[in-house]
Amino acid sequence: MQGFLIEGTKELKGEIRVSGAKNAALPIIAACLLVDGEVRLTDCPGLSDVYSSVRILGCLGCKAKAVNGEFYADCRDVSKDHIPDRLMRLMRSSSLYLGALLGRKGSAYVSYPGGCELGQRPIDLHLYALEKMGAKITEEHGVIECTTPGGLHGAKINLSFPSVGATENVILAAVLARGETVIYGAAREPEIADLSEFLRKCGAKITGDGTSTVRIEGVSRLHGCEYKVMPDRIAAATYMCALALAGGGLCIDNCIEQQLTPVSNVLAEAGCDVYFSGSRMYISRKKPLKSVGTVRTMPYPGFPTDAQPLVTAVLAKCRGTSIVVENIFENRFRLNSELVRMGADIKTEGRIAVIEGVNELYGARVMAADLRAGAALVCAAVSAEGVSELGMTEYIDRGYEHLEDTLSSVGAKIRRCII
Ligand code: EPZ
Repeated sequence: MQGFLIEGTKELKGEIRVSGAKNAALPIIAACLLVDGEVRLTDCPGLSDVYSSVRILGCLGCKAKAVNGEFYADCRDVSKDHIPDRLMRLMRSSSLYLGALLGRKGSAYVSYPGGCELGQRPIDLHLYALEKMGAKITEEHGVIECTTPGGLHGAKINLSFPSVGATENVILAAVLARGETVIYGAAREPEIADLSEFLRKCGAKITGDGTSTVRIEGVSRLHGCEYKVMPDRIAAATYMCALALAGGGLCIDNCIEQQLTPVSNVLAEAGCDVYFSGSRMYISRKKPLKSVGTVRTMPYPGFPTDAQPLVTAVLAKCRGTSIVVENIFENRFRLNSELVRMGADIKTEGRIAVIEGVNELYGARVMAADLRAGAALVCAAVSAEGVSELGMTEYIDRGYEHLEDTLSSVGAKIRRCII
């Protein structure tokens, strides 16, 4: 099985540049389906989910490629409206092609998306919203068939939960629809503002992105553009947590302070020194880690659920008792049993984990259960006593471009191998 061999080390030192954000690039790539022209993205991360997106665009008749941190697409010829199940299952963000296909072709034949198993992850809010905009949707045996007999039209959409994906799907369906769409209760994650900014550069009329009320005025056509993908705030959080666990000092470049405040506040309280200068963040840790009380995940601008496994790994070595409450996904503690194998003292009950800090974590044979749990195990193993074997690293490759090389460049002893 694909894996990493990781020898625990003391201290990380050096500089890391954060790549473009996976969770911004993926919806922007889906949005290319709506563009009547050529698109060039820079700072597009070289991830397996990006390559899966290239395959989806290709199967719809588009020209698309991702190479050396850049992405190109020309979707002027979209000849199909059907995405095979094997491609839909590759990732969660394949669900976004529903809104993009309806916006472009007026019909879509897809199946349920794949993605990390963090709970049931339904798409009921996506389907509810698209039906409000005039889509006729049938679902049978996992297959979703959508048509828009009278074309998509603007609507007032009330989201009962600020779903990131549902907000993005509505924006994709609304930019070429007839009239105005208003999303009440929209997600406020920065990746939604990045998708909106890309679409505005293509000629879309979107306001309110980043707030809980987003307005989209449909236009007749979107033209091509060049666009730089925003930095990956969760990748930055990953490097911060690796440093917090190992100690030492890092400069992490290509950061946006406001987006990282929830994580930097927790790590500062745990004993790290963190400060920002423009797009550069400096983080160091010289004293022992201490408990921070309770960490609750919330929709943005609250503490991000994607950083929860990363911070749980840090709390495992914080002197005292810490509590983590996971309010977004019903099954996002699959990391914890693997950390216990490394010597952590964590009791998990439903959406709550109680963590008693230990002085050391120890190398062990552990498995990545999902993308961020895998990254958290890398952070734990990099600072553990002894050698760890980490399996199922294909999960990690979905969200990080050569994580092993990035951490090795600042002193970690980690290499890719078959375990
Ligand atoms: C996006 O997933 C991200 N993925 C996730 O990152 C992130 O954890 C999540 O947003 C929350 O921030 C991408 O952007 C590709 P949601 P998404 O819809 O859109 C429930 C990572 O590690 N829900 O906001 O799937 C759902 O079950 C990944 O990079 C419904 O009930 O998240 C979950 O409990 C993991 N019905 C909650 O809402 C729906 O129709 C949040 O889901 C939609 C969602």
